[in-house]
Amino acid sequence: MGSAAGGGFPQWNCGCAHCLRARAGDDAAVPRTQVQFAAGGPDGYLLIGASPDLRAQILATAELTPRARRDSPIAAVVLLNGDIDGITGLLTLREGHSFTLYAPPAVLRILAQNSVFDVLDPARVPRVALLPQQAVPLPGGLQLCLLELPGKVPLYQETANASLPEPAPVYAARVANAAGRAAIFAPSCARLDATELRALADCDVLFFDGTVYHDDELIAAGLSHKSGRRMGHVPLAGTGGSLQALGGLGPRLIYAHINNSNPILCADSAESRAVRDHGADIAQDGMRIDL
Ligand code: MLT
Ligand code: MN
Ligand code: ZN
Repeated sequence: MGSAAGGGFPQWNCGCAHCLRARAGDDAAVPRTQVQFAAGGPDGYLLIGASPDLRAQILATAELTPRARRDSPIAAVVLLNGDIDGITGLLTLREGHSFTLYAPPAVLRILAQNSVFDVLDPARVPRVALLPQQAVPLPGGLQLCLLELPGKVPLYQETANASLPEPAPVYAARVANAAGRAAIFAPSCARLDATELRALADCDVLFFDGTVYHDDELIAAGLSHKSGRRMGHVPLAGTGGSLQALGGLGPRLIYAHINNSNPILCADSAESRAVRDHGADIAQDGMRIDL
């Protein structure tokens, strides 16, 4: 439903070359909303993450249209991290709809510490703690589980001027259908070692962290002093980068959570071609995959 990293594309306060092209309506630099996935079918849908752009994303998705006077096919939401672009869409889901909210305990603690999330009445929206590898049955014979990945604390919990990322786990969602076919949604991942590769290989379609192509691209463009790795996102390029590690892994690879600094947002860039040459895809808003 949404394919950009936090801030979206173009970002409201960014005048970088990519955002200028997107604002100008350039066909090769298509605007994107902040990362959001949904998985499901006629029996109901699971939202994966809760994007700040969730209202517009739901309205743009025919499958999520109400079927009665007060209704939504959204049956559950699973949160993968405590980042702003991963949780604030929950505030869009007020209005009395009943659904189950699954999240790892650390993310549930963040919600509990911020009383604004109490707008979701626990009587209608039960909060269920989910541990990695714990299987949850969902409507339509789907099965959800979380995979733990290396990450860092949310930006707003960082210690001032920390020069290294403060490690904390983040999560990917694995959703399997009744036929046993599976997709993994991993919008954040700081590192790809053997353990991560083994876990991420166990699916048919892998949506993976496409935040930055070059580790230093935000620094080079004068947009930030942080590298991709410092932000908890493994870059696509280079040794240990995700193209090399995941390109031949097996699952269909689709990059999502793409930052506006990443040249793959421009379809005519050498970096976009390199992604395609590795047999991988670049997610667009509204993309649908039939498992
Ligand atoms: C991230 O993906 O690193 C975060 O969403 C950054 C942020 O909170 O802006
Ligand atoms: Mn993010
Ligand atoms: Zn920009």
